[in-house]
Amino acid sequence: MILLLTGGAGFIGQYLARRLVAAGHGVVALDSLLPQVHADPEASVAAFPGPVLVGDVADADAWRDLPGDVGAVVHLAAETGTGQSMYEVERYHHVNVGGTRAAAAFARERGVPLLSLSSRAVYGEGGYACPQHGTTFGVRCCERAEPVPSHEDDPHRPVSVYGETKSLAEAAALEAIGGAVPLTVVRPQNVVGPGQSLHNPYTGVLAAFLAMLREGRPLTVYGDGHQTRDLVHVDDLAVLLAWAVDHPPTAGEPRVLNAGSGRRTTLLELAAAAVAGAPIEGADVTHLDVHRAGDIEHACADLGRLRALGAPLPRWSAHDAVADFVRRSWDQPGAGASAWDDALAELARRGLTS
Ligand code: UD1
Repeated sequence: MILLLTGGAGFIGQYLARRLVAAGHGVVALDSLLPQVHADPEASVAAFPGPVLVGDVADADAWRDLPGDVGAVVHLAAETGTGQSMYEVERYHHVNVGGTRAAAAFARERGVPLLSLSSRAVYGEGGYACPQHGTTFGVRCCERAEPVPSHEDDPHRPVSVYGETKSLAEAAALEAIGGAVPLTVVRPQNVVGPGQSLHNPYTGVLAAFLAMLREGRPLTVYGDGHQTRDLVHVDDLAVLLAWAVDHPPTAGEPRVLNAGSGRRTTLLELAAAAVAGAPIEGADVTHLDVHRAGDIEHACADLGRLRALGAPLPRWSAHDAVADFVRRSWDQPGAGASAWDDALAELARRGLTS
């Protein structure tokens, strides 16, 4: 089968494409080769194991003239920076919501399944269980409340524009598909692995840690470092996505799947794992007393549904995934640590930090 991967030249798309090709599928990418992500667009194109068509998913013209034998659409293309989304509001809506609606309309028109990548950002702060107040979503009722892993049926409570666009994109896909073809939505937690963009200061904390370690700078941790994240290695995500391609649900019964490791790791533990992967003795941590608008405290996936379906479960621990990323990215070109200082300063300038 030929699979159309939007955003296929990106980090996740490259891993998935290699896996799909190894399993006997053909792949074609539709990708805008955004300079913020692709410092060397030619290298991204060369790495993709199939043709790369250059186009923006939110642009109707990009969907004309695609090969006639596409057997399924995997929609990965998105704007992904939580902080940046807070001021590039229109662009994030245009690409993430408009692009997903267009991908769904295309899948429906062609009569083929759609697998659409969403994000755990739709859950926002997620659920908290409290002996006094019961379970609440989106807000921690009191100090006694403990965060609980997010389940696919939990309510959407996004706190960033990015999360909001991903929630709206899910609704747009559902509506555009209208039960006509199979639809799978996957909500990854924080994805990490070699090959992720090291030039884009909006790709998350680990690229920042890598840049700081390479310059011998202390790692800047925002707040006390006890925030938690669920780190999923890109290879584990690619395995799950490839499985989802080969196991589409019945049309009219859309399926939502979490993707994560199912475990919480604190930011301080992530910093230690990054140091463990670096060819240096150790590194200091500096705490910055700052909160970025759109940031959440805790995130973790409930993997119960994946288990019940017999879907592949993650093999990488967060520690090993982070260390693998740092080890294999150490010699790769990337932005200097000041790019992350600049990104934070930009948020502060716009009144998006406190
Ligand atoms: C990330 C992704 C997002 C994805 C989501 C899924 C970004 C940049 N990345 O969001 O696309 O959908 O996971 O869960 O949006 N921090 C530091 N020091 C730094 C940078 C960040 O301490 O130099 C902290 C942040 O305050 C935050 C944590 O690290 O508490 C994680 O931040 P980050 O990786 O930027 O974003 P996520 O919100 O996890």
